[in-house]
Amino acid sequence: MTRDEARRKIIFALDVDTMADVEKWAGLLAGKVGMFKVGKQLFTSCGPRTVRAVRERGGELFLDLKYHDIPNTVAMATLAAARLGVTLCNLHALGGYEMMAATVGALEKEFPGKDRPKVLAVTVLTSSTAETLKGVGINLPVTEMVVKLAMLAKSAGIDGVVASPLEAPLIREACGNDFLIVTPGVRPSFASVDDQKRIMTPADAVKAGADYLVIGRPIAAAEDPVAACEAIIDEMTL
Ligand code: C5P
Repeated sequence: MTRDEARRKIIFALDVDTMADVEKWAGLLAGKVGMFKVGKQLFTSCGPRTVRAVRERGGELFLDLKYHDIPNTVAMATLAAARLGVTLCNLHALGGYEMMAATVGALEKEFPGKDRPKVLAVTVLTSSTAETLKGVGINLPVTEMVVKLAMLAKSAGIDGVVASPLEAPLIREACGNDFLIVTPGVRPSFASVDDQKRIMTPADAVKAGADYLVIGRPIAAAEDPVAACEAIIDEMTL
């Protein structure tokens, strides 16, 4: 893997809640990482101008709003994200086949044969355990449920999943090479583990099948965030 290929795999988690911080990080890291992830906290605080601010500085976006609603609502929300110019967005696979298929269908209708955002599915949140699933009436082991939902997402035309690096090999096996796997829970060897529990290094996550790595604090909390990005790329390309 070249350094440029490794760089494009890094998605920086923009876990901030002011425009000043968005502008600071986008200015510092555009061109140094592949993408910026805007989640519910930042989007609820500052809205679509976060996306514009990153794009104006040359950064690409993963809009991590995990839609889960009736098919028409999720399809229309995803179209709205696409019109903002995001590269990746996501929804909950638990919304079902029809919700996912309607979303992909709406995107393909508006962007026929053109570049459109890739839609990822969240299968089972990594904060959920077998007990959590049982509490909502699902009596399957977590990994079985993860693979079942990943396959359902793929059959509905969804482009990939967000998953723990530990689940990546099973998903890769079930869904094939033409299916994106985006993994958080990644820690370079130089960084602190923070509150992450089941972690992998960037190099191991890529070996396990990850196409993109979501990385926040190992870059944000580093004394020199740009140097931290380069160190992560070193680890991935060695
Ligand atoms: O700082 P850190 O690298 O732990 O940030 C990881 C990012 O990925 C955060 O935005 C976090 O919310 C997100 N995430 C995660 N684990 C999941 C899903 C999302 O850490 N299972």
